[in-house]
Amino acid sequence: MSTESLGPKRACVIGAGSSGIAAAKALLERGISFDCFEKSDRVGGNWVFGNTNGMSAAYRELFINTSRPRMEYSDFPMPSDYPDFPHHTQIAAYFEKYVDRFGLREHITFNTGVEHAARRDDGLWEVQLENGETRLYEALLVANGHHWDPRWPEPAFPGSDSFSGTQLHAHEYTDSSLFSGKRVVVLGMGNSAMDLAVESSYVARETYLAARSGVWIVPKYIFGKPVDQLRNDPRIPFAIRRAFIERLIRFNAGTPDQFGLPRPTHRFGEAHPTISGRILDRIQHGAITPKPNIASLDGDSVSFVDGTTVEADVVVYCTGYKITFPFFDEDLINAPDNHIELFRRVFHPDIPNVFFIGLLQPLGAVMPLAEAQGTWVGDYLLGDYLPPARAQMLADIEADQQAMAKRYVTSKRHTIQVDFDDYLFDLAKERRAGEIRARQLGYPAPQFASAAAVA
Ligand SMILES: Cc1cc2nc3c(=O)[nH]c(=O)nc-3n(C[C@H](O)[C@H](O)[C@H](O)COP(=O)(O)OP(=O)(O)OC[C@H]3O[C@@H](n4cnc5c(N)ncnc54)[C@H](O)[C@@H]3O)c2cc1C
Ligand SMILES: NC(=O)c1ccc[n+]([C@@H]2O[C@H](COP(=O)([O-])OP(=O)(O)OC[C@H]3O[C@@H](n4cnc5c(N)ncnc54)[C@H](OP(=O)(O)O)[C@@H]3O)[C@@H](O)[C@H]2O)c1
Repeated sequence: MSTESLGPKRACVIGAGSSGIAAAKALLERGISFDCFEKSDRVGGNWVFGNTNGMSAAYRELFINTSRPRMEYSDFPMPSDYPDFPHHTQIAAYFEKYVDRFGLREHITFNTGVEHAARRDDGLWEVQLENGETRLYEALLVANGHHWDPRWPEPAFPGSDSFSGTQLHAHEYTDSSLFSGKRVVVLGMGNSAMDLAVESSYVARETYLAARSGVWIVPKYIFGKPVDQLRNDPRIPFAIRRAFIERLIRFNAGTPDQFGLPRPTHRFGEAHPTISGRILDRIQHGAITPKPNIASLDGDSVSFVDGTTVEADVVVYCTGYKITFPFFDEDLINAPDNHIELFRRVFHPDIPNVFFIGLLQPLGAVMPLAEAQGTWVGDYLLGDYLPPARAQMLADIEADQQAMAKRYVTSKRHTIQVDFDDYLFDLAKERRAGEIRARQLGYPAPQFASAAAVA
């Protein structure tokens, strides 16, 4: 490891959600000077119900679906009196405590969004803030989240502009009072659709769950343990691990078609997991009626592709999210149809001083992965890690894209998928390789222009 600090290495972190604060901690621990800008008046991003940033998708009854031990940071356990799947208020409180425990708060500028980030010819980032200020940085860590820009059905369903009831995206949903006494159609088979259909089923007159594709529904518990606490060793081939979990799911819950839902045309692990301990139960109580995809809307009716029609007051589109970076010029960095090519989901192969934290969709929780990404970037900025050459990064990205295309159902949902344990395992391996590369060259720090010199 290198022994001396290279002096001020000014970095900017965009966002103080769970990813941004983990990255901020890694920078602080390494003595790398940085500013973290946060649009909101507090940390926690998506986990702050009614967040002043207007970007949170949290609803009043949101609970995590990745268990507490999976979600907590490696060196900051959640309180032992938390349940296995805490409420969003507990999760938001945990992030607040994390920030105070590690002295991060003073490095975060609240109520200050990054409006624009441009890379100058000398390599520095010119960061324009909402308050009109412009600052220069050597490195930019992007942690703006990817579950805040709603993706509505594309294209819109025929007749949707004539629908006489309420149409909304899951992102706008706050609580079940919206459904009270109403006839509700929930579209989608991801986790938002599961939660909202279940919530609706307790208060609505009728609840329909419309599915374009079948999914394997993973229960929250198997053998009395949170399902993500079952042993999952990345050294065991995925096919074997998959066969095991598939059997467990079938043994535990049967197959979705037994409940009137479409039978998945893919195997478990080929789509982002849909986790619900309650949906099958509510269907079996007759409180939710499964339907295939919506075909069209007209006045107060919704027709489905099987030719059936229901009258409805509310249609909720739980149709996922877009990855967007409003502060980058589109020709610099963007993610059309959620595609963005990054080395191990963090390093840009052509721009050496921009890094993406938490921009992944794990089978498992985001936080420990964002934490590992933050320390990885921190090591790089100090010279303790050297990335492979561009050609090797591109080859790695290509191999990853091919593996993802081979494994996952083709969809805008499946562009940044990772397996939690495998990702951490592979990242540790890459970091060891990069440390050897750095050592062989005498730990060269990445050469970015100096913000101080140019300012
Ligand atoms: C309903 C729902 C439930 C979920 N449940 C789970 C779960 O159980 N487990 C799990 O692991 N994941 C879950 N997720 C995924 C979720 O994305 C992560 O839990 C987590 O919020 C990711 O943190 P983040 O910091 O990357 O993004 P966010 O939480 O979205 O935080 C991003 C932060 O960046 C700030 N920001 C954005 N743009 C700017 C800007 N231009 N300038 C300054 N600041 C900016 C925002 O204000 C925000 O504070 C869920 C997602 C949704 C939508
Ligand atoms: N309790 C929790 O912790 C919780 C709750 C909610 C969400 N989340 C998380 O939040 C993230 C987003 O989840 P999400 O459920 O909002 O989105 P998502 O996982 O992207 O699921 C979107 C769903 O909408 C369907 N869909 C998309 N476009 C459609 C169209 N035009 N017509 C019909 N169906 C369409 C998709 O079907 P296809 O498969 O056919 O594309 C898919 O079933 C995930 O990470 C999820 O785990 C967690």
